[in-house]
Amino acid sequence: MDVEYSEKVVKICAAAVAAPSGDNSQPWRFVFRAPDVLEFHAIPEKDNVLLNVDESGTLIALGAAIQNAELEAKALGFNPEVQYDGENSLIATFILHKGGILSDEEKNLHQAILLRHSNRKEYKKISLAGEDREYLLRAAGKVPGISFSLVEEQESKNLISRALTTMEEIALKNKSLHNLFFESIFWSKEQNVAGGSGLYIRTLELPPPARLLFKILRYWPVANLLAQIGLPKMVAEINAKQNASASALGVLALDKFNRASYVEAGRLLERVWLAATSRGMSLQIVTGLLFLARAVERGNSSAFSIEECASVREAYSRIQEGLKVDEPFLMFRVGYATSPSAVSFRRAPIITGIR
Ligand SMILES: Cc1cc2nc3c(=O)[nH]c(=O)nc-3n(C[C@H](O)[C@H](O)[C@H](O)COP(=O)(O)O)c2cc1C
Repeated sequence: MDVEYSEKVVKICAAAVAAPSGDNSQPWRFVFRAPDVLEFHAIPEKDNVLLNVDESGTLIALGAAIQNAELEAKALGFNPEVQYDGENSLIATFILHKGGILSDEEKNLHQAILLRHSNRKEYKKISLAGEDREYLLRAAGKVPGISFSLVEEQESKNLISRALTTMEEIALKNKSLHNLFFESIFWSKEQNVAGGSGLYIRTLELPPPARLLFKILRYWPVANLLAQIGLPKMVAEINAKQNASASALGVLALDKFNRASYVEAGRLLERVWLAATSRGMSLQIVTGLLFLARAVERGNSSAFSIEECASVREAYSRIQEGLKVDEPFLMFRVGYATSPSAVSFRRAPIITGIR
């Protein structure tokens, strides 16, 4: 095997796995077929079964990974031909032709790959700088079937943020969602550094009293008892204020809900996130409620009570009205903040076909 190729393929896959994924699930694996073919495969079982409708969460993560991989491949002198006609677990194939080069804007995105992280802190309550807004919109580009917009008006941010945190409210009241969420938490630095799937507690940026409360909330009987005295609503209101502190909420809406659109949405998200990172901005995805709404709409709702389904539908329609968008698919908040207190680690990429 061509050593030059195999070393470069390892670098391309390392850039791919730096991408975001739901609860840091890292639902990907790679196959290299010498001399020049690299395949991207999905492992949807790694994602949250209740929320991963149509495997959309997995495919967004794959899209983001493919975006990073394309930038890295070009930085290494390849001109990757990307094909999306795979079936089953195969999501995309790169044919690694030689002769690629990064444009100046792509160079900025490429340099941000390993610096990009979720930042769940409170953001500075300041407006988006004009140049930053333009930069984010340019990085998103024009993608057929996907619209991308930024909501900056404070009243809309408040209203939409509160509707979005209906997710946290339900997660603290519903046993299935509660268990899934708390099972994915890493309580120690050692677990985080090992790079497995899960969220390190310190990346949640809870202030010390809330961190203590969070530790006991992991026990369902405690969470259930505190739910009776209104804790979920209180938490949702605090989180909503924190989310609305961002300069803008980013919204991706889709014309079609299918595999290709989910992957493209993931690619667009990653370009915007890398652009934000390269401008020193912070970003956090805040999209759980939209995923939950799709699960309820598709009838995957046996884990939820009638009241919970109704409050998800009601929150979703408040978001639709607030955004004036028919099918909001994915949302994040973006703005200015100090660096995150901790970041999530990654497993080394699993690559078949490399010795
Ligand atoms: C499809 C998808 C959904 C996500 N949903 C949320 C979310 O609702 N809230 C949140 O804080 N992070 C969310 N994330 C971010 C992941 O938790 C994060 O990317 C992962 O833990 C890795 O951390 P990193 O972004 O710092 O690399 C989501 C990521 C993806 C790809």
